[in-house]
Amino acid sequence: MRELSLHILDLAENAVTAGARLVAITVEESAAADRLAIRVADDGPGLPEEKLRRLEDPFVTTRTTRRVGLGLSLLAAAARRAGGGVEVRSAPGAGTEVSAVFRLGHIDRAPIGDVAATIAALIAGYPAVDFVYRHRIEEREIALDTRELRTAAEGVDPADPALAEGIARWLREELGRLARGGKEGCDAQDDC
Ligand SMILES: Nc1ncnc2c1ncn2[C@@H]1O[C@H](COP(=O)(O)OP(=O)(O)OP(=O)(O)O)[C@@H](O)[C@H]1O
Ligand SMILES: [Mg+2]
Repeated sequence: MRELSLHILDLAENAVTAGARLVAITVEESAAADRLAIRVADDGPGLPEEKLRRLEDPFVTTRTTRRVGLGLSLLAAAARRAGGGVEVRSAPGAGTEVSAVFRLGHIDRAPIGDVAATIAALIAGYPAVDFVYRHRIEEREIALDTRELRTAAEGVDPADPALAEGIARWLREELGRLARGGKEGCDAQDDC
């Protein structure tokens, strides 16, 4: 996978497929710490100990359509290539948390990609699942919680493509502001 947003999509889809009702996605970027961390936690059934031990093994999968589950092993390889690694914490009945860490400035770190579109696609694609998305850049952070959206957006059809577009546009703006250190948009010649 060329972009980290696609790994986020895979992790969230793993959680939804396993039966999670709540998926928390956290991205933390810090140039100061040379660190990029992605964490996807869910309230699903968790993984049995045996599976947990062999999770990075591409032959571990519940897929029946093909034998090889690649998502987690590709993520682990991408993280290792960029000076980091993956950690999975899970217990039967207690959900699963996958953390991937990368060196932000590593030459082999994959680009983050369009996380805004990924989050919007997840929200629109799985209307029965709640998502909590937090994105931190240095000391600043944005957050989106679909449990709050639900009460605010009564009567909105979750499958309406305009909803996903609206969420993606809003998140993209917020992420842009975050990347600029909280300043409003400004011209290239400005010091921002
Ligand atoms: N959050 C989760 N909760 C429960 N089980 C999980 C979770 N994430 C992964 N798994 C289990 O680990 C297996 C491996 O996941 P992985 O993403 O590597 O492959 P896959 O999803 O089966 O296939 P692919 O990602 O290539 O489409 C899954 O098939 C599933 O059984
Ligand atoms: Mg997968």
